[in-house]
Amino acid sequence: MSLPPYILSLDQGTTSSRALVFDRAGKIISVAQREFTQYYPQPGWVEHDAMEIWSTQAAVAAEAILQASLHPHDIAAIGITNQRETTIVWDRTSGQPICPAIVWQDRRTATFCDELRLQGLEPLIREKTGLLIDAYFSATKLRWILNHVSGARDKAEKGQLAFGTVDSWLVWNLTGGEVHVTDVTNASRTLLFNIHTLQWDEELLQLFDIPYSVLPQVRSSSEVYGHTAGRILSHRIPIAGIAGDQQAALFGQQCTRVGMVKSTYGTGCFMLMNTGGKPVASQNNLVTTVAWQIGAEVNYALEGSIFIGGAVVQWLRDGLGLIATAADVETLAAKVPDNGGVYLVPAFAGLGAPHWNGHARGTMVGITRGTSAGHLARAALESIAFQTGDVLRCMEADAGAAISELRVDGGATADDLLMQIQADVLGAKVVRPQILETTAMGAAFLAGLAVGFWKNRTELEQLWQEERSFDPVLHSNGDAWQRGWQRAVKACLAWTE
Ligand code: G3P
Repeated sequence: MSLPPYILSLDQGTTSSRALVFDRAGKIISVAQREFTQYYPQPGWVEHDAMEIWSTQAAVAAEAILQASLHPHDIAAIGITNQRETTIVWDRTSGQPICPAIVWQDRRTATFCDELRLQGLEPLIREKTGLLIDAYFSATKLRWILNHVSGARDKAEKGQLAFGTVDSWLVWNLTGGEVHVTDVTNASRTLLFNIHTLQWDEELLQLFDIPYSVLPQVRSSSEVYGHTAGRILSHRIPIAGIAGDQQAALFGQQCTRVGMVKSTYGTGCFMLMNTGGKPVASQNNLVTTVAWQIGAEVNYALEGSIFIGGAVVQWLRDGLGLIATAADVETLAAKVPDNGGVYLVPAFAGLGAPHWNGHARGTMVGITRGTSAGHLARAALESIAFQTGDVLRCMEADAGAAISELRVDGGATADDLLMQIQADVLGAKVVRPQILETTAMGAAFLAGLAVGFWKNRTELEQLWQEERSFDPVLHSNGDAWQRGWQRAVKACLAWTE
């Protein structure tokens, strides 16, 4: 019997839930998207309503199918990709979350992380998980929930609660509460997962005081985990691919050979380099993460995580009201020939790679009476490019070789000015693919491979096509321009001392 002709990809991001239908040629047939509420209950805290994550995701899944005039039985499989690290705890009987989801950007556990570092635990944690001690990852968020939500620890000890990153939460709901799983890529972002044994680590569970009973079962990134049940996707569709959004993008960009690098410009910016079948430890403050597991093959990556990327443009729009739509930033920034000496370090959620300072906050320097909105817009765009440049140099140092080409994706990469600035900062070629939705595409690929929709990896390679590349242009004052950024970062970090 032939397979249905489409794959549904669910892309649950930090600010919106999206669903995309792909055909066998890797073409997007339909896209549905809904933004959902961001809660900032205290400075440094960021929360989501897990029920809203689910309801918006379920709604867009149905919408994407309807929009293409399809029926659920036209879908061969579902792939899931998600904002990573965000921590959800729910009651196994009622299926209700016991508190708001603590989002990856949330810094409430930064001081606890400082204590762990002072106890000298970083080398042990790094060795086992590939990560650093930072409030970004899930473990300290989960511990916070168990310690602060009334009755939570007691219920957890009795096996009544389930923990999951967003992938687990979606699978649980899609299967009507039957399946509690995660995949290796999402597990590798928790600080509880040993990336060498590919299992939850007893010693780390003890260290963070997490009972084993709350954890999901860890599976590969491409296999059938269960089938949809319930009203929205009534037909039993196999859920067959899961990967954290950055790993999914690496796969969607077909960075399948060692040394290939991609950067995704979403809420944050995340650069990943494929390092092959062995985890490589960074000497330059990057993290080591599982890129995917397909069958028995496990692939690892080095990652530079930048917490604020496209979100700096959202801030210009929603926080300052400088622009009406995100796309307007390009026009505004193009009104000035350069940044006029203004630099913005958007440490709104602390600084990630390579500084890892949870206490850093946004800093703007170089303002004069001549500073205009255009300069601010330009400084905001440049901040995305400069942060990416800092991470790329760490990656080059770890790899011991120059990186000549960076594949880019995500909404902000449609901005030609930003891409040119990016190439200039990096001194490397920036390559934009025809399909910018590589995150969703990666999840679709993983699901499609599991059910035989695509026969093999070679078939997938042919689905990636370049749209345009940007070559670096040398600026006469390029060194001073880049030095200005380094001084601005210094000022930002000095403020935390
Ligand atoms: O680690 C956080 C990351 O997964 C969030 O991705 O695309 O929502 O910025 P995005």
